Amino acid sequence: MHVAIIMDGNGRWATQRGLPRSAGHVEGAKAVRATVEAAARAGIETLTLYAFSAANWQRPRTEVDGLMFLFRRYLFEETRRCVEQSIRVNVIGRRDRLDERLLRAIERSERLTADGVRMHLRIAVDYSSQFSILEAVKRARRSQDLSPQQFQSLLHEADHSAVPSGEVDLLIRTGGEKRLSDFLLWECAYAELHFCDCLWPDFTEQHFQQALDDYAGRVRRFGKVNAEHSA
Ligand code: IPE
Ligand code: IPE
Ligand code: MG
Repeated sequence: MHVAIIMDGNGRWATQRGLPRSAGHVEGAKAVRATVEAAARAGIETLTLYAFSAANWQRPRTEVDGLMFLFRRYLFEETRRCVEQSIRVNVIGRRDRLDERLLRAIERSERLTADGVRMHLRIAVDYSSQFSILEAVKRARRSQDLSPQQFQSLLHEADHSAVPSGEVDLLIRTGGEKRLSDFLLWECAYAELHFCDCLWPDFTEQHFQQALDDYAGRVRRFGKVNAEHSA
């Protein structure tokens, strides 16, 4: 099962407390740790987290710098825990606009966790689904009769995705907004959507479990009719 999460609401969480937005991102990083562990415990095969969109470069420089620092710190601190828990880490998105120190942290984390088989943790940084699709289309130009699966492989290449991750089964967005914000547009073709009003720093294992319970009650038809109606 592939779960993807748009982790939204850090800024509002901080503003509500009279704190700078950066404090919300620090608190949000703690929710990431807890959610990764909850997902591994729940037996999720692939977890893709939206950490920084290509559009987020338009935020104030101090906020962007703070986020980049947090990503680097997260990778340094969590890599050992991921190795211990057999979680394979992979950062997806563009790499050509990332700071050299962050790139080194990404490569280190991906290398040290490469044998992880329990869960595939993908963190989307400088990610834009439209950009990835356009990159994959450029790579596809020479191939004729491309299947959706082959196109998805090209998307993986464009995204620096190390392991085939398949389509998203469940997409969760916190923070109350009901939009995709350029996240996994191709991969979410038949995803079940779960919107949660809680702000990302407040997201707990209980919220995650609620999303899984909601998903378990959905009927996925993929365009077909239900078995009981098909006679
Ligand atoms: C999500 O929280 C984290 C990032 C986009 C990096 P926001 O920072 O978007 O928080 P809100 O939506 O402004 O509350
Ligand atoms: C989406 O959140 C990106 C991440 C959670 C990393 P945003 O806060 O950037 O999205 P919009 O601007 O509300 O669509
Ligand atoms: Mg937001």
